Amino acid sequence: MDTIEQEIERLRRDIEQYNHEYYVLNSPTVSDKEYDMLMKKLEQLELQHPEYDDPLSPSHRVGSDLTKGFEQWPHERRMLSLGNTYSIEEVDEFVHRCSDALSGQEFSIVGEMKFDGTSISLHYENGRLVRAVTRGDGEKGDVVTDNIKTIRSIPLRLSGSGWPEKFEIRGEIVLPWKAFDELNAEREFNEEPLFANPRNAASGTLKLQNPAEVARRGLDAYFYYLLGENLPHDNHYDNMMEARKWGFKVSDAMTLLKGIDDVDNYITHWDTERRHLPVATDGLVFKINSLRQQLNLGYTAKSPRWAIAYKFQAERALTRLRFVSFEVGRMGVITPVANLEPVLLSGTIVKRASLHNEDIIQQLDIHEHDMLYVEKGGEIIPKITGVESGDREPDAPSIKFVTHCPACGTELVRIEGEASWMCPNKYGCLPQQTGRLEHFVGRRMMNIDGIGEETATLLFKEGLVKNIADLYDLKPEDIKVLERFGERSADRIMAGLKDSLNVPFERVLYALSIPFAGETVSKKLARAAGSIDRLMAMTSDELTAIDDIGPRIAESVIEYFQNPANREIVERLRAAGLQMEIAADSSTERSDKLNGKTIVISGVFTKHSRDEYKELIESNGGKNSGSISKKTDFILAGANMGPAKLEKAKKLGVPVIDEDTFLNMIAD
Ligand code: IVH
Repeated sequence: MDTIEQEIERLRRDIEQYNHEYYVLNSPTVSDKEYDMLMKKLEQLELQHPEYDDPLSPSHRVGSDLTKGFEQWPHERRMLSLGNTYSIEEVDEFVHRCSDALSGQEFSIVGEMKFDGTSISLHYENGRLVRAVTRGDGEKGDVVTDNIKTIRSIPLRLSGSGWPEKFEIRGEIVLPWKAFDELNAEREFNEEPLFANPRNAASGTLKLQNPAEVARRGLDAYFYYLLGENLPHDNHYDNMMEARKWGFKVSDAMTLLKGIDDVDNYITHWDTERRHLPVATDGLVFKINSLRQQLNLGYTAKSPRWAIAYKFQAERALTRLRFVSFEVGRMGVITPVANLEPVLLSGTIVKRASLHNEDIIQQLDIHEHDMLYVEKGGEIIPKITGVESGDREPDAPSIKFVTHCPACGTELVRIEGEASWMCPNKYGCLPQQTGRLEHFVGRRMMNIDGIGEETATLLFKEGLVKNIADLYDLKPEDIKVLERFGERSADRIMAGLKDSLNVPFERVLYALSIPFAGETVSKKLARAAGSIDRLMAMTSDELTAIDDIGPRIAESVIEYFQNPANREIVERLRAAGLQMEIAADSSTERSDKLNGKTIVISGVFTKHSRDEYKELIESNGGKNSGSISKKTDFILAGANMGPAKLEKAKKLGVPVIDEDTFLNMIAD
């Protein structure tokens, strides 16, 4: 029988192990529920036995609300920056320079990602984190240990063995794209200024005086530099692989390279492949591997001679603003869009970029015909990041937000608590009506085969469909006579409508376009309420009692169902045969065809989204895991699966199957 102290220690070790599996290896072995239970138990025991408290217990990772100014700490070894280059040729020159300086000795190079976050130095003593210090001015930085402790991928106590009694490890604190997008969406909603990029968001977050808020934002950390005496190996790469065993997140992209050809291939590969990484990177770093050779090569005043950063081409272009258009979404929200002189940006021509809302236009201080900087935010959607005000036309007036709806002329309203203006004419404003129709038939909603965006608008304009319920009154004769439509397309639409009667209630609810009820919220509402009747009857208190449903969503749901026009639509959809309650088996497993199988999803798919595949795996008894290991049974691969993953799969002999094969596997 364990003593209380032993039990507490065992719980701490287990939880740390599960944290590591979840946050570093992307491969959890216990359910969230099990994890929460263990954590609760630990918290309870710690509360009952404060004598065994340990500031590094995993229970302290949630952060406290205490605020205090940051203490400063001098860096034992200065935190330097890296020399930058922008071309393969310059990287090759670096390799030649090193070769010359090492007078022809053999050497290898380590290629790594240059993570775009904020640097951190962690100090460990006897396997325990004692301090986390920001870069500061390079000589001394702020002690941000409490904030760092909230990052669950950072080991507070090390695993494995062989670490030096005292050492320092440096790395980059990053905010993954997903967390960054969520944070900005929330800030937009709360009318707070948006972060321009994940780097600013990460450094801003690290400096917060409120560790509880830091914990909520989802920072992560990658490590790339081990310093100290008595390091386990005489070369950088092996040291990092050792650090990985102690629990640190070291990127899988870190690779030992043998010569210029390897270096060039590494650059070509990651120039595009980096777009698939979950975090922002702004380049690559190449380091001479041997620590002895590093010492030989030495330092300049600012940076090491043994390392160089290759910066990815700044995906930014400068172009002239033609005009700003104001577009009306299906919820009536007005989005300002910059219409630009076409410009080439990382392989595609950009003509338009969202300006999001009035605040952004004001913050950027855009005037008519300004020269604007366009960037690929998140690498996909272009956004305007700045104005070259020196090129402004004299007397160019600043861009004014419209006061009336550009589509229907109704005066816009600015709803309290939101950064955006909206057109209140929900049922008489054309783009809102067609927008809702397009949303309703979309793939993730009712998925009505045969009706795309264009057809939805055409049906509306022809007066055949005025709202979503009218769709189910359509007759083949109505469609056949439309321009460009014939018997075949009419049949296809009728079949699509019929199929949509099987779409589960969660998606029907999402298809209704209830403001603030996105895909996840709709799913939560549907599952908690069980049926549309119950949902319509729920009070604000009952709604906000549902996980993740706040007053704003509750109010919106109530308002939606209070509107007689919406109620009528719901009744007509019910009469047409749509699913208005949760299917009896939707929360239970559909089959056990994938029982005991661990499956990794990789690449881009055409038939279902990644999330849908994840659900399919789980509902058929399988387990979805983020990283490939010996335990992986197979990889469900779409297009563009990363070559690193493919190679790893090959090495471990893990089968790779495509989506059709997978769907066949689970088909009834
Ligand atoms: S090595 C003496 N490796 O880039 C060498 N730095 O301009 C110290 N960074 O301050 C840095 N990824 O914040 C190194 N794989 C990587 C990196 C990296 C990002 C950042 C780091 C540093 C800056 C140097």
